Amino acid sequence: MIELLPSILSADFARLADQIAAAERGGGTAIHVDVMDGHFVPNITIGPPVVASLRKATKLPLDCHLMIDNPNDFIAAFADAGADWVSVHYEACPHLHRTLELILHHDMKAGVVVNPATRVDLILEILPMVHHVLIMSVNPGFGGQEFIPFSLDKIRRLAAIRRELELTFKIEVDGGVAHDTVAAIVQAGAELLVAGNAVFGGGQPERDARTLLDAARQAELLQSASTGVGRKSKIH
Ligand code: DX5
Ligand code: ZN
Repeated sequence: MIELLPSILSADFARLADQIAAAERGGGTAIHVDVMDGHFVPNITIGPPVVASLRKATKLPLDCHLMIDNPNDFIAAFADAGADWVSVHYEACPHLHRTLELILHHDMKAGVVVNPATRVDLILEILPMVHHVLIMSVNPGFGGQEFIPFSLDKIRRLAAIRRELELTFKIEVDGGVAHDTVAAIVQAGAELLVAGNAVFGGGQPERDARTLLDAARQAELLQSASTGVGRKSKIH
């Protein structure tokens, strides 16, 4: 089941509550929150105080994508602020298993993120622990960048690994998800679609979220029609 996660990075930060409400009306089912520290990535955004305010503004799950060094130091603060999902970068966590345990210990859903240059095979051991794997399809730090085409192969590879290992984590994609890329992303096997610029960049988040989600669902339908996925349950 495809889901759209509007990324507030491209929203008007002075009107976040309104912008989130509009994106929710357009079909967004979780809010993607990009946390940047100016060290791990060359940009600075927001932290736990803003998450606490967002928590009061929406009932949707808050998907916090930590692009920070030393994430262990901040996991309790994000839990206290009301984060639901927390994902950390493979590249920022020398003790990734410990970090994921810490997230789970705080009763949040844990995710792991891989940068474009990181092979998905490097996270095999921890896959049973995570609720989602986030494939970065741009180099993290900024919204509005172009989708990196080889990300599609990484999504396909991860979907194959998930089948082989009989796991249920979700595959999330972040960066350059837009009208011209979304069908290929869905057909490669992703189901959580993060979109910043495509939802908020045009100033009409409700309309643009809906249009993007419709295109994604259309691609999902075509995919299941061509592979036969979903037919079996109707026959039996
Ligand atoms: C980039 C962030 C993304 C960003 C995506 O580092 O992690 O979540 O908002 O933006 P778009 O959808 O504009 O590529
Ligand atoms: Zn993100």
